[in-house]
Amino acid sequence: MQKKYCAIYLSGTGNTKFCVTKLVKFLDETAPIVAMEDDAAISTIEAYENIVLGYPVQFSNAPKMVRDLILGNRALWKGKNVLCVATMGAFSGDGAGCAARLLKKCGAFVLGGLHLKMPDSVCDSKLLKKSAEEKIQIIRRAEEKIGRAVLQIGRGKFPRDGLSIFAHAAGLLGQRLWFCNRTRHYSRKLKIDRTLCVGCGNCVRVCPMKNLSLEGGEVSPHGKCTICYRCISLCPKKAITLVGKRISEQYRAENYIDRA
Ligand SMILES: Cc1cc2nc3c(=O)[nH]c(=O)nc-3n(C[C@H](O)[C@H](O)[C@H](O)COP(=O)(O)O)c2cc1C
Repeated sequence: MQKKYCAIYLSGTGNTKFCVTKLVKFLDETAPIVAMEDDAAISTIEAYENIVLGYPVQFSNAPKMVRDLILGNRALWKGKNVLCVATMGAFSGDGAGCAARLLKKCGAFVLGGLHLKMPDSVCDSKLLKKSAEEKIQIIRRAEEKIGRAVLQIGRGKFPRDGLSIFAHAAGLLGQRLWFCNRTRHYSRKLKIDRTLCVGCGNCVRVCPMKNLSLEGGEVSPHGKCTICYRCISLCPKKAITLVGKRISEQYRAENYIDRA
């Protein structure tokens, strides 16, 4: 009999939502697929034994919001079977392992880890710029990898990306040791260009952390940014930046998925 799953994901620019949806549809077509910020996230985790947990890698780590969901609700994870799915722009070493280790501490059993390379969501750094064709190719390859993972899982063998001791070392040495400060706390570095912002409130509505507020036509961040880039990618005036100073192309997965 097919196992019952639920999926919980954090997705700033749509990559993780796309990958998790694609994967889970094959594993259990009845599975609820719930965004982490959704009020139903906790009750959904409570109700299911098998969970796909998806998130984007940030500076070779799991986002603070994901780590808080795990460590702030330790009892919730006890006895759960979790498949960690980490999407990334280039490399993470142990992207899936970052959440997997925390989950184990909370008494969960880690079914496996899956790493999926997707287009980079950082859109205010020229270093990471790729052509539309390259992004489409990357998405195609991710879809193929999901297909292979589904076949493997169907044969009872879960992928183990990012879970080994070598992957852990690669994650630490690759980036996490140098950039650990960037994900240790929620960020206070979100910059809003007041000369561009028109106070439409879009960023306030889309933020998964409810980190932004709009008062008197002025948007203010409150130091709880989980650096997902959702507000940055959806601001109609390109007025929000974080890592860099100027937006190149605002990346949204849905602009490329149908073309892949
Ligand atoms: C602040 C930030 C840091 C990131 N750091 C990494 C990284 O260390 N390694 C990597 O491969 N990708 C990194 N990425 C890219 C994202 O992990 C990748 O694009 C992911 O698929 C975005 O998923 P989403 O669209 O679901 O938010 C980073 C993205 C952001 C916004």
